[in-house]
Parts: sequence; structure tokens; C-alpha cells
Amino acid sequence: MTLEFAERIRRIPSYPLAAGYDLGAQTAMLASNESCFAPSPAVAEAAARALAGANRYPDPSYAALRGALADRYDLPPERIALGNGSCDILLAAGEALLEPGAELVYAWPAFSVYPHLAAASGARAIEVPLDSEDRHDLDAIASEVTVATRLVLVCNPNNPTSTAVSLEAIASFLERIPRHVCVILDEAYVEFSLTVGDTYSSVDLFQGLRPRRAAGRLRAVRLRGVPVSRRSGAPAVLSQRRSAGGRGRGASPSGRRGTARNARRRGPAAARRGVASA
Ligand SMILES: Cc1ncc(COP(=O)(O)O)c(C=O)c1O
Repeated sequence: MTLEFAERIRRIPSYPLAAGYDLGAQTAMLASNESCFAPSPAVAEAAARALAGANRYPDPSYAALRGALADRYDLPPERIALGNGSCDILLAAGEALLEPGAELVYAWPAFSVYPHLAAASGARAIEVPLDSEDRHDLDAIASEVTVATRLVLVCNPNNPTSTAVSLEAIASFLERIPRHVCVILDEAYVEFSLTVGDTYSSVDLFQGLRPRRAAGRLRAVRLRGVPVSRRSGAPAVLSQRRSAGGRGRGASPSGRRGTARNARRRGPAAARRGVASA
């Protein structure tokens, strides 16, 4: 007899595993965001110090790290959430916001984990094709938002196309998104973008928003070789993320190319609006 897994787990697209992951110490596995350099000795020492206290549960609110980040980036600590990689935060946002009948909107192709949020929750994924220059078509994304939309993901710069839209374009896009929708700006690769410019200025985009327009900015950082992720955003959403708790990685981070099937997955927003408001 074989175990029967939950439908929401069976729906998650399986990610093809590579034949081997250890390509030797000299290889930087860029598709997995891996460096060939070991963590700095200071990081290894801090990890060893933390390990010495492993007989205690760690502080689940990460107060010390959130406080330090809040000081450094001049943000209230309630606006910072930490995760075990930014996939952890993405999946927790999906868990907190999505369910059958809800909709999730994102450009496609984009980061390969985005479809998992819909698969795992039973929400409907609306995949909006990139424009003719492989950039996010923010107008088309905004026009797909309906009363059923709970979450919009904007990957900037986009994985896998590396294209980016300006912060001004994102600011006016946010103005068009209704207050019931959470927008996550995924800036995992922002340091590599010449379009975005100042890599911290997008925090300001979300500062002025009223709390119910729960938006957040996702940032993947590596502390000298050890991945840590943080998200700044509306306190209400971040406390939901803390309630949802930590999650493991969803998938390998490299992007997958879109297919015609994916591009077709979205239906006309007007038709869906009818369904959503019923
Ligand atoms: C666009 C994007 N967002 C988020 C992530 C998640 O990265 P991690 O969970 O390693 O922090 C990745 C990883 O490749 C990515 O490409």
C-alpha cells in the first residue's frame, strides 16, 4: 500500500533534480546563487557560538537581528520579517493569504517558485506574459487584478530574463492596486540592476502606504556566504507571516521558461471578475 499525499502537495510541480550537486570547491554554481568561497571566518565563529546554545530554542521573533536591521535601515522592527531564505517568506505569504477561490497574479516567465504558491494553496495563478522586451508589463498585471486577487508578485529584476522596471513605474503601479491586495516586490537580484539604481529606495515606496494596502519588499541577502532573507512590509502582514511559522525551501531557485500552457492559464479578467464577485 502506498501513502496517499494531500492534493495540494501533489499539485506542486516537481523540480527536476540535477544528477549531482557537488561540482567541486572551485565551482561557483551561479544558477543556485552559490559562491565558491566559504563563509567568512567571522560568520563561522558566530555560527559556532550559536550552536553552543542549541540546547535552548532560538528567539522565534529574531529580536536582536531585526533590531540591528531596523537600526541600519532606519525602519521600525515591526516592518521586518526574517526567513530561512526568501522562498521561506514567499511560501509563508502564500500560506497566509491564498486559498481556493483566491487569485495570485505575477508575470511569466519569472521565478520558478511563484507557481508553487498557487499549487500549494489551491488559489488560481494568473500568469501575465512579459512584454516584447521581456519586461514586466505592469499595466497588463494591474488589469488582471480583481476582487479575488490576494497577492501580486513583481520580480525586479526578473529571474530569468534579468530585465527590470524603474521604481517610478512600480510606484505608479502600486497606486493602481486596490487596498485588499498584497504586493510583494521580489528584489533578490537588485544589487545587479542598473535600472533600479539605489538598492534601498524601494523601501520608501511601501512606507507611505496605508497599512491595509499590505505591501512588502522581499530581499535575499547572503551574510558572507550564509543565506538570510528579510522582508519589509506592512506590520499586519508580517505578523501573519510570523504566525504561519518557518517553512523549508520550496524548490531550487533557478527559473523555468514559460510554456504556452502557462501563458494561457490566465483567463479574461472581466470574466473572472464576474465569478469573483458572485
Ligand atoms: C527572484 C528570486 N526570488 C527569491 C529567491 C529565493 O532565494 P532564497 O530562498 O535562496 O533566499 C530566488 C532564488 O533564486 C530568486 O531567484
